[in-house]
Amino acid sequence: MRIIDQITSNFLSNTSLYIGEKVTMSEHMIQTAMIAEEKNSSSNLICSSLLHDYGHFILENPYDLVKKNKDGKHEDVGYEFLKKYFSKDVLGPIKYHVKAKRYLARERKYYSLLSRASKISLKMQGGIMSNEESKKFETNQFFESSIKLRKFDEMAKKSGLKIKSINEYKNLLISKLI
Ligand SMILES: [Fe+2]
Repeated sequence: MRIIDQITSNFLSNTSLYIGEKVTMSEHMIQTAMIAEEKNSSSNLICSSLLHDYGHFILENPYDLVKKNKDGKHEDVGYEFLKKYFSKDVLGPIKYHVKAKRYLARERKYYSLLSRASKISLKMQGGIMSNEESKKFETNQFFESSIKLRKFDEMAKKSGLKIKSINEYKNLLISKLI
């Protein structure tokens, strides 16, 4: 159970703001999980939502990367780390949530709703998806869950919101361990 303690302690010790946003990374991920709950998502998707940006905790200095216009591939970093501990259904949407953003950004309405920081990172993440890549992505087994996660993600950047504690998600995290 060391991994659960490690995850909760990372959430509790993270106090830096999510790049370009008004919330910390921990607050952002907890808000994402809370929205997933409100939308009656599966427990797998709630867990994915809670951990979707975990790669940012692992990357040494995400701010530095942004300054250098580099993409840290936080979705892959998070996925590679978490796959030792969590089930495939939790991991899929985490791995593909950036692809989902690139897919959704083809819609003008979605694109205009992206925060400034998210528009900037989109460029570094490969930009709007081509038609060919989109068609391929639609056949991915995690397509729908990734799209859902991405929409929750976008809604979860509000400051001053009363949010749950990571400790309230401990049982959920434990239940998804492999
Ligand atoms: Fe996010």
